[in-house]
Amino acid sequence: MEQYAIKGGSALVGEVEIAGAKNAALGILAASIMTDETVVIENLPDVSDTNIMLQAMESIGVIVKHIDRHTVQINARNIHTEVVDGDYIRRIRASYYLIGALLGKYKNAEVKLPGGCNIGTRPIDQHLKGFKALGAKDAGINGGMIVAHADELKGTHIFLDMVTVGATINLMLASVMADGMTIIENAAKEPHVVDVANFLNCMGANVKGAGTDVIRIKGVERLHGTEYGIIPDQIEAGTFMFAAAVTKGDITVKNVIPKHLESISAKLLEIGCEIEESDDAVRVVASKKLEHTHVKTLPYPGFPTDMQPQITVALGLAEGTSIVTESIFENRFKYVDELSRMGANIKVEGSTAIIEGVQKYSGASITAPDLRAGAALVLAALAAEGYTLVDDIKYIERGYEDFDEKLRGLGAMIDKVDGEKDIQKFKLRVG
Ligand code: UD1
Repeated sequence: MEQYAIKGGSALVGEVEIAGAKNAALGILAASIMTDETVVIENLPDVSDTNIMLQAMESIGVIVKHIDRHTVQINARNIHTEVVDGDYIRRIRASYYLIGALLGKYKNAEVKLPGGCNIGTRPIDQHLKGFKALGAKDAGINGGMIVAHADELKGTHIFLDMVTVGATINLMLASVMADGMTIIENAAKEPHVVDVANFLNCMGANVKGAGTDVIRIKGVERLHGTEYGIIPDQIEAGTFMFAAAVTKGDITVKNVIPKHLESISAKLLEIGCEIEESDDAVRVVASKKLEHTHVKTLPYPGFPTDMQPQITVALGLAEGTSIVTESIFENRFKYVDELSRMGANIKVEGSTAIIEGVQKYSGASITAPDLRAGAALVLAALAAEGYTLVDDIKYIERGYEDFDEKLRGLGAMIDKVDGEKDIQKFKLRVG
């Protein structure tokens, strides 16, 4: 089984190109099947989550042509079934966007229940409530499948009980071709929600207000083909920004939208890093000992839950006591046990982590429990003294394109290894 072998201790320095946003891509890929015309999507990240989504689309008859590594051409004219039940689909969370897309287009959808990271219970009641309100009265879970059928879809008023990215995107998809006006209140405002809305509008939809908490969708008869470039990945960028912080490095993330990174930049400033912003790049310089702070994860524009493990790793090395509160998912501190094996001093009480900064981490054999925590543990290993082996890197590869290669480009000593021989080779190489 592949692992990352890492020798920590060197400052990461240089520039790194950020890929397209995984979570926007997943919504946009689902949306692309809502027209019979050809759609071209650019800046698609080459990560396992998006590749599984493409595989699911192909399994129902969508023709996917790869133009180059980051550009696909999609044609959904010949979809032959509205049932998506391949076992692989359970590995990704966003498979549920196919419900919104198929329901919106064919008024009928059955998709295997999603998987994704095990970071909490992750119910889909708000998605189902919205589908029902739109006319899919029987929408629900049946035999491991999410099912939704409607005789007709009618615009309606939906008030989401909590801010949910998934339900906001899914209900935009289900309503773009409904009859009349749909209003989604308490909508998520994440950049990827806006990107999916922009993509739908490029296909001829009439979606207004994405990026605010009220989204108004006026149903249109049909959607048409388009060419569209996905926004850069806020979380990949944030992860590299924190790599600078934990290794006392100097990293410029390129091809980003600095506005989307504001809450991340603000926390880095607070803990003692210097930030330089330009049009499409952000430079993070960490030249002194990190300072403690308090942070609470919140929906956008708050500090993202997907950056919570990365900031915890940084605060584990900061002066004094820090507090991290997770307000989105109830089970997102599982990685703390692994981090403790590297010498961190962190106590978790419910949804709060109390962190006493330590002088250094030390290398250990650890396991990535999920995507973002896995990436955060790699950051810890890069800051640590000695060698670390990270297991279950398949989680990390779900959302980070060429993670090890990009880190090597910044001077990190990291290799993907498979077995003892590779590990010895790595140790010989890095000394
Ligand atoms: C998406 C992202 C994930 C990110 C999360 C929050 C994708 C593929 N995943 O996940 O990386 O961590 O947004 O930014 O885009 N909830 C309900 N009922 C529902 C839906 C959600 O109770 O029907 C709750 C969830 O349990 C959670 C909160 O609402 O506590 C937010 O979840 P949501 O924003 O929907 O997360 P995902 O879309 O699953």
